[in-house]
Amino acid sequence: MEFSNRLKSLPTQFFATLVQKVSGAVAEGRDVINLGQGNPDQPTPEHIVKALQDAALNPQSHKYSPFRGISELKQAAADFYKREYDVKIDPDTEVAIMFGTKIGLVELPLAMMNENDLMLLPDPGYPDYLSGVALANVRFETMPLLEGNDYLPDYNNLTTEQKMDAKLMYLNYPNNPTGATATNEFFEETVALAKESDIAIVHDFAYGGIGFEEKKPVSFLETEGAKDIGIEMYTLSKTYNMAGWRVGFAVGNPKMIEAINIIQDHLFVSLFPPIQSAATAALNESQQCVEELVGLYEGRRNALVEACSKIGWDVKAPQGSFFTWLPVAKGYTSEEFADLLLEKADVAVAAGNGFGTYGEGYVRVGLLVDEDRLVEAINRIEKLQLF
Ligand SMILES: Cc1ncc(COP(=O)(O)O)c(C=O)c1O
Repeated sequence: MEFSNRLKSLPTQFFATLVQKVSGAVAEGRDVINLGQGNPDQPTPEHIVKALQDAALNPQSHKYSPFRGISELKQAAADFYKREYDVKIDPDTEVAIMFGTKIGLVELPLAMMNENDLMLLPDPGYPDYLSGVALANVRFETMPLLEGNDYLPDYNNLTTEQKMDAKLMYLNYPNNPTGATATNEFFEETVALAKESDIAIVHDFAYGGIGFEEKKPVSFLETEGAKDIGIEMYTLSKTYNMAGWRVGFAVGNPKMIEAINIIQDHLFVSLFPPIQSAATAALNESQQCVEELVGLYEGRRNALVEACSKIGWDVKAPQGSFFTWLPVAKGYTSEEFADLLLEKADVAVAAGNGFGTYGEGYVRVGLLVDEDRLVEAINRIEKLQLF
């Protein structure tokens, strides 16, 4: 059988290798502390599960969903943006419902770009952005995120060609993998650049619900003019521990939203209605569960940073997301360091180079196990006397 060039062009999933290595170690009976992945460890709040159960009992919700999702969920997304960010969204024309935001991020190059058009991506960045690049057969160039610039791209370093050619740019704050957050000034610069150079912006706000030290992460759409040139992707996976449910939405520029909806009209018949009802409940009802979740992650973050500093590992506390971005010990590459921790300390972390060239020299550690396991992981690493 012959398969398409498109299929062959898909990047291999870097983290599949990590999963394999960890599973191998666990199969040998080793007590691995897995800090390598990004899967929320807490359950979905009960009132959200209850909304699913109630809706599932209603035979009406066993039919096909309206193609573009139920109106209650679109209204809830608009109300959520008004309440949380004071951003006005038209539920009919400025919201697209999707099976988690990964699919939207992969659909957008298909919807907006022709073959060989140029896309700008952050480096380090979420690896799945490259799936969209490969499926749409577009070109991409990267914008380095450097510690010295608080992991924000420096637009002064874009070349004239990049500014002229780029059609689409992806940004993501709070950032996976670095845990950095964006500022209003940075988003103002982004809108100015986008308007000057005619670049559509997609802000991936996957960790929008998770900001520390009582600093709520800023939405890109709070910036004046943002909706003229871009959209924001919001997932329920992280804010409400709903990663397995597959539900998220895009909000913002109505032309970009329509483009996503047209592609989706051909691919899907929207989500199982009870999942949409549960997502509606998540957005509409009390946000206390989110406050508690952020408190839990912040406690883990503080415990990890303190344990690291006790062993002389010089790390910076992340401002948001549930990741910490740690420099590797001297003399190691990211991959060598990650392999060493797994082999000698039974601690799994994600090697930074899996997120791009500028991820070299770092590893990503998830805050997705209890505080005492995080501290135990660092105590095990201490025994290797690397710092
Ligand atoms: C930066 C970033 N964007 C998007 C996603 C996709 O989330 P989902 O497809 O669950 O909405 C993830 C998930 O890990 C992520 O880390």
